[in-house]
Amino acid sequence: GIDISKLYRETGAYTYDSGFSNTAAGFSNITYIDGANGTLRMRGYNLHDLVKHCSFREVAYLMVHGTLPSKNELDLFSKYLTEHSLVHEDMHHFFAGFPSDSHPMAILASMVTSLSSFYPDLNQEDSNFDITAARLISKVRTIAAFSYKKSKGQPIVYPRYDLYYCENFLHMMFGSPVRKYEIDPLHTKILDKLLILHIDHGQNCSTSAVKLIGSARANLYAAISAGICALWGPLHGGANQAVIEMFKCIRKDNNDIQKYINMAKDKSNPFRLMGFGHAVYKNYDPRARLAKELLDELFQKRNITDPLLDTARRLEDAALKDPYFQERKLYPNIDFYSGILYRAIGIPTNMLTVMFALGRLPGWIAQWKEFCDNKGRIYRPRQIYTGPGERPFVPIDQR
Ligand code: ACO
Repeated sequence: GIDISKLYRETGAYTYDSGFSNTAAGFSNITYIDGANGTLRMRGYNLHDLVKHCSFREVAYLMVHGTLPSKNELDLFSKYLTEHSLVHEDMHHFFAGFPSDSHPMAILASMVTSLSSFYPDLNQEDSNFDITAARLISKVRTIAAFSYKKSKGQPIVYPRYDLYYCENFLHMMFGSPVRKYEIDPLHTKILDKLLILHIDHGQNCSTSAVKLIGSARANLYAAISAGICALWGPLHGGANQAVIEMFKCIRKDNNDIQKYINMAKDKSNPFRLMGFGHAVYKNYDPRARLAKELLDELFQKRNITDPLLDTARRLEDAALKDPYFQERKLYPNIDFYSGILYRAIGIPTNMLTVMFALGRLPGWIAQWKEFCDNKGRIYRPRQIYTGPGERPFVPIDQR
């Protein structure tokens, strides 16, 4: 019953915890992670069951609501996702202003902040938070597809009201006004499952960013935009792009796996094996295991080959046999195989972190809402000052 946090505040005591890796900043009933055993549950449901039996729409509803939807509830939520898929026509001008080689994460973060100007009513005080959540989830997906089209110099493709969330995304990404595009149902399924794999992961860096911004009572768009920026970093969601670039680099370098293993072990070299290791998992990341199963299914059913997959498998084998990785409990994380899967359904490398953001969005929204509902305190970590003591002031003409 003792509120340690309050006690510390009153006595002026505080602890040093680099990266807050051992500090709980609050309570949450959304996601449970047991990093030692590689267990991940959302709202009490095992990730494995959600991936096997649910659609992304269902799990998004679960994240936002806390319960799985009935058939009618899912139909209504899907209707909201469909009916709110367009973005304001005036926002199209923004796309035209970005250089064509802009990173899609830069476009996404800016556009999500801009949504607050076009949809100012979309806030937590709305009586129906389902609509708020569905609108944001739907529009961010549309913005993501539009930013890809912009980067290709192609005309944007509008969403269709007869398609569900994932099919609609593939249609907007790869459809064209001049060529018929047949959506492969297996691609839709793989995308749907991949998005579920990314949907939430406790107080990770981007979710903490969302909550930090939200803790100042900034609006949902500002908070989500901050989450997108945090996710972009290569130690976090940006690792999926870095992994593909690393695989390509290894292949160009005679596929010399051992050279890269040695580089990752060399403490004088900043290189790290991308897609390996995790701040919480000291066991195989359950999301990576499920991604590998999806990979096998897609590659076998569509008879796909990708030389990068051979490099990935050989790299994983070599790392897992190496005492350096064994002693430090470093295993593949979700980013190690997700990029190869996305490549196989046509997603380009620079869109990979955007795909992560689309998956994580319902989790961010749920975490933001939970924080606001609980009226969480403003995030205000302490620091240990290591600068100079008080110094005599010297006027500028005497320095
Ligand atoms: N390659 C080589 N060595 C590694 C790696 C790696 N990928 N990851 C950790 N290590 C080493 C560290 O150098 C450290 O060694 P030391 O004990 O000799 O000093 C030890 O393992 C422990 O590592 P930490 O840095 O303490 O691990 P931390 O929890 O801080 O970092 C992180 C986790 C950032 C994910 C790290 O493993 C990493 O940089 N991985 C590569 C980037 C990556 O894949 N990020 C995606 C993470 S998943 C996600 O965000 C969705």
